[in-house]
Order: sequence, then C-alpha cells, then structure tokens
Amino acid sequence: MRVLVTGGAGYIGSHTLIELRAQGHEVFVVDSFDNSSPEVLARVSELTQATVPFAEVDIRDRAALGDVMAAFRPDAVIHFAGLKAVGESSVIPLRYYDVNISGTLSLLDAMDKVGCKRIVFSSSATVYGLPQYLPFDEDHPCAPTNVYGQTKHMAEQVLRDWAAATPEASAVLLRYFNPVGAHVSARLGEDPSDIPNNLMPFVAQVAVGRREKLSVFGDDYDTPDGTGVRDYIHVSDLARAHTAALRFANGSIGAEAINVGTGQGYSVLEMVEAFARASGRDIPFEIVARRPGDIARSLAAPDKANKLLNWHAEKTLDDMCASTWAWQSQNPNGFREEG
Ligand code: NAD
Ligand code: UD1
Repeated sequence: MRVLVTGGAGYIGSHTLIELRAQGHEVFVVDSFDNSSPEVLARVSELTQATVPFAEVDIRDRAALGDVMAAFRPDAVIHFAGLKAVGESSVIPLRYYDVNISGTLSLLDAMDKVGCKRIVFSSSATVYGLPQYLPFDEDHPCAPTNVYGQTKHMAEQVLRDWAAATPEASAVLLRYFNPVGAHVSARLGEDPSDIPNNLMPFVAQVAVGRREKLSVFGDDYDTPDGTGVRDYIHVSDLARAHTAALRFANGSIGAEAINVGTGQGYSVLEMVEAFARASGRDIPFEIVARRPGDIARSLAAPDKANKLLNWHAEKTLDDMCASTWAWQSQNPNGFREEG
C-alpha cells in the first residue's frame, strides 16, 4: 500500500517506517520536525537502504498538506503527528487542541479530497482516566483527567464520526499503553529534547550518567512494592501493531478502538532493577512524593488486538531494557551528534 505517515520522524513513527518498508509498503512522511529532526529519517533511510521521501509540513497547513496528498495519493494514512506531554498540555491547552484536534480535522479534509478512506490513529490509554476495573478493555468508560487525554478522546470521536459519515471508510484507533525500548540496531530510539517526563528515558539518562538519580514518585500505592505499575510495550512490537492495523483497516469499515499493550505490568522498582541488570550500571534513586494525576496501576487487556489484528507482543522486559541501554549508551546525545 501507499502509506502517508504524519509524524513519521518521531519516536514511534520512525520505528513504524522500518516495519512498513519490511512489509513492502511505500511510504511518504509529513512532519514539521517540531519534536524530531530530518536526521531520524536519514537513519531510517540507512537502515532500510532507500531514501525516505518526506515533506516538512505542519499538518494544520491545509494548502501544503493538500498538495502533498494530491501528489502522493495514499491508500492509507497513519497519523502519529501530535503533541504528547501531559504536564505541558495543561499549561498551553489551546496549542494542544489546535495541533491534536485541528490537525486531525485538516488531515481528514485532505484525505477526503483525494478519496483516501483508511486511517490508523495514535491514541493513548490515557483516554480511560481512573480505572473502574483492571485490566482496561476497550469498553471501559473514557474519562480523561488531563488536557492531552481530552485531545486524544476528542480526536477519537472526530474519527468515529468521519468513519460513520464516509462510505467504506475505516479508522483504527490504537490506544497505546507505555511505549519503551529502541530499534535493535541502536540507530533509532526515544530522544526527549528536555528533561524526560517518562520513566524509561529518565532511567536511561541516569544509567549513562547524564542525570544524578531517579526520583521515584511514591512508594505507598496499593501495589506489591508500593510503586506504580504500568504495561510497558516495546516500540518494535508497537510498530508491528500498525502494519497489522493497516491490514485490518483494508478489510473493514467503521471505527474500532484497540488497546496495544502486553497485559503484563511492572512496577517502577522492577523497571529500575531490570535496567540495572541490562546495563550493568547502578541506578541511584530516591523515593519522593507522588506525582499529581498518577494512578497506581494501568494494564491493558490486549485480547481485541490479539483477535482482530492477529497481533501479539513478543519482546520481553529484558529486550526493552537492553535495547534502550544500547540506544542510550551509543547515542548519549540522541540524534544531535550527527546531521
Ligand atoms: P514524537 O513527539 O516523538 O513524534 C511526534 C511527531 O509528530 C514528531 O516527529 C513531531 O515533530 C511531529 N509533529 C508534531 N506536531 C506536528 C504538526 N503540527 N505537524 C506535523 N508534524 C508534527 O511522539 P511519539 O512518542 O512518537 O508519539 C507519536 C504519537 O503517539 C503521538 O500522537 C502521541 O500522542 C501518541 N502516543 C505516544 C505515547 C508515548 O508514550 N510515546 C503514548 C500514547 C500515545
Ligand atoms: C504518562 C502520562 C500518560 C501518557 C504516558 C505515555 C502522566 C501523568 N501520564 O503515563 O498520560 O499516556 O505517560 O507513555 O504524565 N515515574 C517515576 N519517576 C519518574 C517518571 C515516572 O517514579 O521520573 C513513575 C510514575 O509515577 C509511574 C511510572 O513511573 O508510576 C511510569 O511513568 P511514565 O513513564 O510517566 O508513564 P505514565 O505515568 O503511565
């Protein structure tokens, strides 16, 4: 298929490009490089031994996006482009609504103009909000507790309404749990431009000596060791879920929300221990207060993905830690060394 990938230079998008090419799809990337750089695409080109065509375009720029769409004429779109920092989303909410909602509207409009009817969308487990029961299945009520989560929930609704109103259209709303890890080559990985908000990149920066110690946000949760439990999913498994979702979208109509997780939870301290094992480094940490808005446990029921997408997570916790360590230690400054 001809697949237009918005946000393809980002963390998850870049890993998905590798998988798309491995499956024989033709790709075109649209990215503003707001949170990435062309160097990422150069590395994907190197790994796949073919230049990745791209346009530096903001998805809210309807004219430019329309031109790209008219020239490439995709069979399907994978929509990663967006803003994703929970804390920042409450400080600059209008920007989050603009990029994540107006950007999605602009994209659907451009797709409509060329008759493209298939989309796979990056949603998040954060749409569920506080768990009424666990694991989260797709029927769990959605009640996001932060602006970022609201934008994902609203974008899902936009996509559902579009799919319902557009004959033969298909939208797959992938609700990611906690993506971690890096490409097996250690040439691609997560490269936060600021102090990492998320656990895994922070731990990796402590291990490599870029940060002194990890702050563990609370050890008094109702979990076996008192620290927060999450469903970590290897980014390469997540990338495969996208090619599976494309296949599914190609043979279905309507909108479908699908969790992408492993169903297995690990605590913060278990992650620290696993990372220390994989890296052979000490991970100094201290217990500090809970982070506002955090929940004790988040876990996916992955049954729907297993069944509808015929997809299963394959990578282990050790794979997640070892690949993150290889990426971090071989690229201590992320993508900024080259280019
Ligand atoms: P990322 O920031 O690495 O990638 C997003 C890409 O979109 C970047 O390359 C950025 O430059 C681009 N972009 C941002 N605004 C744009 C705009 N207006 N026009 C064009 N391009 C734009 O993030 P990621 O971790 O790869 O996440 C990809 C998607 O998955 C996002 O929509 C995110 O909300 C969602 N998601 C991520 C996680 C996670 O933990 N990483 C979890 C759940 C959902
Ligand atoms: C966070 C977001 C969530 C988003 C997800 C993407 C918040 C409140 N939630 O979720 O909306 O979908 O990232 O992956 O930001 N931790 C520490 N010290 C740290 C960082 C994290 O102890 O420096 C703990 C957290 O308290 C949590 C676990 O590690 O228990 C995982 O944290 P994180 O990686 O930020 O993911 P989420 O909290 O699941």
